[in-house]
Amino acid sequence: MRMRQIAENVHWLGAIDWDRRLFDSLIPLPDGTSYNAYLIQGTEKTALLDTVDPPMADVLMAQLEAVPKIDFIVSQHAEGDHSGTIARVLEKYPAAKVVATPKAKTMLIDLFTLPESAFVTVADKEVLSLGGKTLEFIHTPWVHWPETMVTYLREDRILFTCDFYGSHIAASDLFVTDKGRVYEAAKRYFAEIMMPFRGVIQKNIANLEGYDVRMIAPSHGQIYDEPAWIVDAYRDWVEGPPHNTVVLPFVSMHGSTRIMVDHLAAALVDRGVRVELFNLAVTDIGKLAIALVDAGTVIVATPTVLTGPHPLAAYATLLANALRPKAKFLSILGSYGWGGKMVETLAGMIPNLKVEVIDPVLCKGKPSPEVFEKLEQMAETIAQKHKENGFA
Ligand code: FEO
Repeated sequence: MRMRQIAENVHWLGAIDWDRRLFDSLIPLPDGTSYNAYLIQGTEKTALLDTVDPPMADVLMAQLEAVPKIDFIVSQHAEGDHSGTIARVLEKYPAAKVVATPKAKTMLIDLFTLPESAFVTVADKEVLSLGGKTLEFIHTPWVHWPETMVTYLREDRILFTCDFYGSHIAASDLFVTDKGRVYEAAKRYFAEIMMPFRGVIQKNIANLEGYDVRMIAPSHGQIYDEPAWIVDAYRDWVEGPPHNTVVLPFVSMHGSTRIMVDHLAAALVDRGVRVELFNLAVTDIGKLAIALVDAGTVIVATPTVLTGPHPLAAYATLLANALRPKAKFLSILGSYGWGGKMVETLAGMIPNLKVEVIDPVLCKGKPSPEVFEKLEQMAETIAQKHKENGFA
């Protein structure tokens, strides 16, 4: 793509990565992604906000061929997909200064061996005038790393947010055209990288409330020219109550666990509780992360493998522990042939979760009528607890 104007003397640059399907060797990207950079030209100075992932550096450098001068390279976030091409940009514009938070400066030096002399650090709310274009830097830690900041362009009322409010979508439309599609992609992104830091993100949202924002320009995905809905969505994800939903990540090898999962799901639905089932052998782990944002209860279901949980169930449990969803209740379903410590092993993997544990249900071999009765009781307990807590 070529450089594209989003406001007077403000342009989108960057790369659309239509092919990418995995991030951090962990996060599925079903819709690809983009690495957005922005060029802001004042009457006296020019600033580039963020760069692109190094494999796509040539795309950005080709766009910059038409730009004679850059005075400031603003790094809003030290991760490589936004700052990994700063060294290339500095080679072309050796007099440019890298603008970053003090914490980002040390990280950028560690990660990309940039020269210390190239940096100008900015305090929270510090202002930089480019001549008719005024940038205000607002520190917003943990969106996604501790060093992150956003940039408010006062004259145009544009908030540049890097990962914050971003979505992994490759699209030729610069602005959001399909809110439903972007809502899911943005929720997936929030779940995968920001959900554990809900408290800090809530403060960041509150901190930005005083700014008159007509456009939010993230560094992944499309630009919001009607930003209110994505801010409201974030508010709901960070501070809204859990929903009347049970999320059931499960693995089954010979069918017993699957029978238990299906029975419990039906029993919950009969009692008015929503369920979301994720067969870990085939699921997109990002879909599970999205479901965890609102879940009231999480039930992990697994057979016993070599005396412990199935490795896929252990992986999902570790992930849930790392993502720290706001679910209030958790339990385990499991099957075994002769014994094992599956429940103890899984229980030891969730120290971060502040949940009430509901008694697990285990079955030896094929589920018996007694097991089905216990599953009915579990469904009744969950439905009751969701009701008492006002989950809707
Ligand atoms: Fe898009 Fe945390 O980098």
